Amino acid sequence: MKTKFKALTILSMTAVLALTAVGCGSASDNSASGDASKTSGKKLVLMTSADYPPYESHKTDGGTDEIVGFDIDIAKAITKDLGYDLEVKDVDFNGLLPALQAKQADFVMAGMTPKPERLQNADFSDIYYEAKETIVSKKGSNLKTPADIKGKKVGVQLGSIQEGEAKKMEGLQIVSLNKIGDIIQELKAGRIDAAIIEDTVAKGYTAANTDLEFNTIEQTEAAGSAIAFPKGSAITADFNKELKKLKDSGELDTLIKKWFDTNK
Ligand code: ARG
Repeated sequence: MKTKFKALTILSMTAVLALTAVGCGSASDNSASGDASKTSGKKLVLMTSADYPPYESHKTDGGTDEIVGFDIDIAKAITKDLGYDLEVKDVDFNGLLPALQAKQADFVMAGMTPKPERLQNADFSDIYYEAKETIVSKKGSNLKTPADIKGKKVGVQLGSIQEGEAKKMEGLQIVSLNKIGDIIQELKAGRIDAAIIEDTVAKGYTAANTDLEFNTIEQTEAAGSAIAFPKGSAITADFNKELKKLKDSGELDTLIKKWFDTNK
């Protein structure tokens, strides 16, 4: 009950912040129809980029379209425990942090890594999952290491840390695209030679596209995932407490097994 009371207090603080944001004319982006300021009652808006299974993707079944994944399950567990309803919205990865800054979302979960430059524009939770980078290429192309892809056309997601990694590697022709699915298509069509994509995501896409393979690359920087919030958000501390609860109870491990198990 104590938690519920606290959630209400935080919610009214969020509402005040959100109301303030309306005055600043935040809804400049039509593609993101939602506005966190409209979160009446106990609802939080999660924004994601649902091109990233198993973190988040569209599950289309008999006419329904639902966003599902590891991130979504974590978000559901946390918001449920804190007593909020959850609304999930999908935008291109590159639009997530701007949307958060415009207060169109209460939080972002998108397998997003808290890089120093992002910390200037958003607050981040503790890390909840660690990943590695890989090079995805056509089977038999022998493009497996950073040395192999020198001089090649390499696809990355616009605004991602993989784009940053590619820029650090010498001599790549970088092709930045909005969606991971587009990168895979360009690769299959031979319009790009390789792509840099994180391991668990590469695993899924290469399993679905057997003409492709992935090879893990030695990494200099950690690529953990964390939840992003508008700077100064009142809910960050509660989310961290909830994350800790999920870790301590083993529930996070269960979700990791559910979404990242090899035979998925
Ligand atoms: N971990 C990388 C980053 O933070 C890529 C995340 C891409 N996420 C997505 N949902 N497409 O930049």
